[in-house]
Amino acid sequence: MARISQGRAFLNPKAKFLRDISVAFVAARAKRNSSVLDATAGTGIRGIRYFLEGGARNLTMLDMNRSAFASAKRNAASNSTKAEVLNKSIQEFANTTDDRFDFIDVDPFGGITPYIYDVMKVAKDGTYLMLTATDTAVLCGAHAAACIRLYGSKPLHNELCHETGIRIMINYAVGVAAQLNFGVEAILSVYYAHYLRAVLRLAHGSAKASSSISNTGYVHYCNACGFWEAEKGIIPHQRACRGCGATMPTYGRMWLGQLYERKALADVAGRSSAMGMGAVEERHVETMLNEYDTPLFYSIPRMTKRMHIASVGPSGVIERLKAKGHVATRTQFDDSGIKTNADAAALIAAITGRGTRTRTPALADA
Ligand SMILES: C[S@@+](CC[C@H](N)C(=O)[O-])C[C@H]1O[C@@H](n2cnc3c(N)ncnc32)[C@H](O)[C@@H]1O
Ligand SMILES: [Zn+2]
Repeated sequence: MARISQGRAFLNPKAKFLRDISVAFVAARAKRNSSVLDATAGTGIRGIRYFLEGGARNLTMLDMNRSAFASAKRNAASNSTKAEVLNKSIQEFANTTDDRFDFIDVDPFGGITPYIYDVMKVAKDGTYLMLTATDTAVLCGAHAAACIRLYGSKPLHNELCHETGIRIMINYAVGVAAQLNFGVEAILSVYYAHYLRAVLRLAHGSAKASSSISNTGYVHYCNACGFWEAEKGIIPHQRACRGCGATMPTYGRMWLGQLYERKALADVAGRSSAMGMGAVEERHVETMLNEYDTPLFYSIPRMTKRMHIASVGPSGVIERLKAKGHVATRTQFDDSGIKTNADAAALIAAITGRGTRTRTPALADA
């Protein structure tokens, strides 16, 4: 177990769960000669844990801040962690090294946009890029203008915003990766305590880059009914709401591909007690493991409110949908949300507990 002294560097205990997930993932994937770049090291806690618990022996840690660099260096020595520790920015390092890394961790203050282009320069085919964003107010639509400016995407600011926020973040990485001829696959995507964390696998090749771009697109959302539709593609087409017929506003671009690789989730779940995760965090991993991996979900309280009916628990709705042969699961993005392949009529029927109806009058005048 790493023993870290904070000194004057930044160390957030709340981020332990996200560090645990990352360490568990590296432990599952790293080979002895795998190279790891902890590009925003702070105290060095991540890099040191990748070495001690993840088994990654070829470790480089960067921090542009002098105090943080000194802290990472001190902590590496006191934890018998062999690492190259540099007082350099990602940008300076990426432009002066020939090294290419198997794992790259970027955990800055705020958003990821200033780092991605340079980080891609030290990536290679198969690199796992592990990104944290704490600019959730931007990605989740509280500061829509900033999201458009920084991520080139119009964000949602409603019950879907944490999922769409992480999809906007991934879309940004996909766009920059494509410029450098990398395709992107999302391996792990986590929303936890106002953090958005994604582990992405890069694959070299222009066809792979184009294929990743084809997994991006738009979300149409009806503010009156809460119905939405996801549409992959470069140009969005206006859509009418299935509930009220109104033209739905369009949001995006964002990643509309898968958020998880099942094997990675199973690997993390298998190591959760070794990582000392709490019960809440273990449940979070379990929810991700069981989550239907499709864009977006329905918040049941939002739906019942809009339908002017008494609230119902998501478990009952899930059971009723499954009984009718649909896929339906909980989601990490909303405790009261469900992901399903059911259509609007089947969803309404499952919420009201009645048989499937073809019209949705309760929503039409909502
Ligand atoms: C949120 S802290 C890192 C926390 C650490 N990863 C952990 O898990 O505790 C962000 C660190 O990134 C460093 N940083 C910010 N911009 C940087 C850049 N361009 N290059 C390298 N380090 C940078 C900051 O000095 C700070 O120490
Ligand atoms: Zn509508």
